[in-house]
Amino acid sequence: MATLTLAPMEGVVDVYMRDMLTRIGGFDLCVSEFVRVSQQRYPASVFYHLCPELKNGGRTPAGVPVHVQIMGGEAGVMADNAAFAAELGAPGIDINFGCPAKTVNRHDAGATLLQWPDRLYEIVSKVRRAVPECVPVSAKMRLGFADKSLALENALAVEAAGAGKLTIHARTKMEGYRPPAHWEYLRPIRERLCIPVVANGEIWTVADYEKCREISGCDDVMVGRGVIARPGLGGEIMASRKGSIHSPAFGWPEIVTLIGEYRQLITGMGNPPREAGRLKQWTKLLGRTYPAATDLFMAIRRFDDPRDIMAVVKKMEQRAMAAA
Ligand SMILES: Cc1cc2nc3c(=O)[nH]c(=O)nc-3n(C[C@H](O)[C@H](O)[C@H](O)COP(=O)(O)O)c2cc1C
Repeated sequence: MATLTLAPMEGVVDVYMRDMLTRIGGFDLCVSEFVRVSQQRYPASVFYHLCPELKNGGRTPAGVPVHVQIMGGEAGVMADNAAFAAELGAPGIDINFGCPAKTVNRHDAGATLLQWPDRLYEIVSKVRRAVPECVPVSAKMRLGFADKSLALENALAVEAAGAGKLTIHARTKMEGYRPPAHWEYLRPIRERLCIPVVANGEIWTVADYEKCREISGCDDVMVGRGVIARPGLGGEIMASRKGSIHSPAFGWPEIVTLIGEYRQLITGMGNPPREAGRLKQWTKLLGRTYPAATDLFMAIRRFDDPRDIMAVVKKMEQRAMAAA
């Protein structure tokens, strides 16, 4: 059965966003923001901070499992932390070989490791051996660092090391987030590997989802920015997977209601300026799908009190109701 995974996105897809998006529906799995592992085994508080769902059986309130992602270049410490995350109840461990951030890459982690398939092998195999067999271990990588010449070799190394699944963001580190995503490079990898290959990158609509699956040959897909910009995308994809012609796409009034729900959720942060930051960040991304979100963003961009932001949202809601 084809699966849809909600992408890990540091500073964007946190416990609140996972809660909201998995309640809307369409997702089989989430992956947490990465735990940056460098020299030591972290205390439980670090894992609980990035993946509070660990206290809820490793699932969102809607029941979708959240795998814990770890990132680092030192195989032994990665293995220790992975084993501890599993002990805390992580329903799966994902290893990040895709992060393009300069500071991360300078410190021997993320996409820089794609230059050495033997290092991917070492990290994945040590993590696999450290984690109980019943806990799946997967990896997420890009097509390469500077170029795509090692894409297949890296993928084969991950598989040989015992990972049960590999997600590939179809761009190199150098290509950053510049469109297009090179889905065509995934097909030969998918054809060589026995484990599932999950296609990722640049899926904003159901049409992109279908095109990506057709070009990559991958049944399984991961979506990140697309669902932040279009919160109904998971449900729309699910409907298309079931062959339904009914489109569950959200209109702007539903999005305004969702903004209110999200605001309620993020009060859990207990940090009004950060909450305001999250509201502005999301509103800006929504502008890609909903022109009214851009108007909203322009109206709130200087606010750092969520109550001021919500007063503007309320006015918009009242105007929309009056016009209906
Ligand atoms: C703000 C931001 C944060 C991200 N954080 C992570 C992360 O913590 N771990 C990871 O593996 N990928 C991370 N990514 C990459 C995404 O998971 C995904 O591979 C990428 O955005 C491409 O997919 P998309 O086009 O569907 O967004 C991040 C991307 C963005 C834009």
